[in-house]
Amino acid sequence: MFYTILLKSHSGLRWVLLASLILAMVKYYRAARGNRHVQRLVPYTLISMILMHIQVLLGLTMYYLSPKVIFAAESMKNSVHRFFLVEHIGLMIIAAIIITIGYSKTKNQVNTPYGAKKLLIYYFVAFILILSAIPWPFRGLGTAWI
Ligand code: HEM
Repeated sequence: MFYTILLKSHSGLRWVLLASLILAMVKYYRAARGNRHVQRLVPYTLISMILMHIQVLLGLTMYYLSPKVIFAAESMKNSVHRFFLVEHIGLMIIAAIIITIGYSKTKNQVNTPYGAKKLLIYYFVAFILILSAIPWPFRGLGTAWI
């Protein structure tokens, strides 16, 4: 029961996180180009960073509950088990670190075109990593769209 709630929350929250990252990147892009109407970037940066951290916390809890995470050497021979044991967690932790570094490195320049450009680069790299690490249903990992 607890595991199902976690799994559904983790799965559904992916869409909110992806939407918030896209929205933030559109704002950074416009601000980087010097659009004067787009200046308050902090809320977009913070919201997507917090959502990412919540996903990491939900994921880490599930890492110890999921039947797909098996701590055994044989797991490396099975593509589903290897994906959840090392690939998904590894790439997602790297993406979370990149987002957090992006936030902290631009804290004092966030509302300038230069800061927006830096944020755009950090967030774009993390976004690509996240897209590549999501267990999309078409990858044959036994997952759902929601
Ligand atoms: C350290 C970070 C993370 C860990 C440890 C983690 C762990 C896991 C685990 C163990 C599962 C398998 C659950 C199961 O089917 O039993 C899972 C599934 C999933 N994770 Fe993560 N996760 C992390 C981050 C993320 C992030 C950032 C996203 C989204 C952007 C994400 C999206 C998903 C999705 C879509 C599923 C499939 C859910 C389904 O079966 O419908 N994960 N994750």
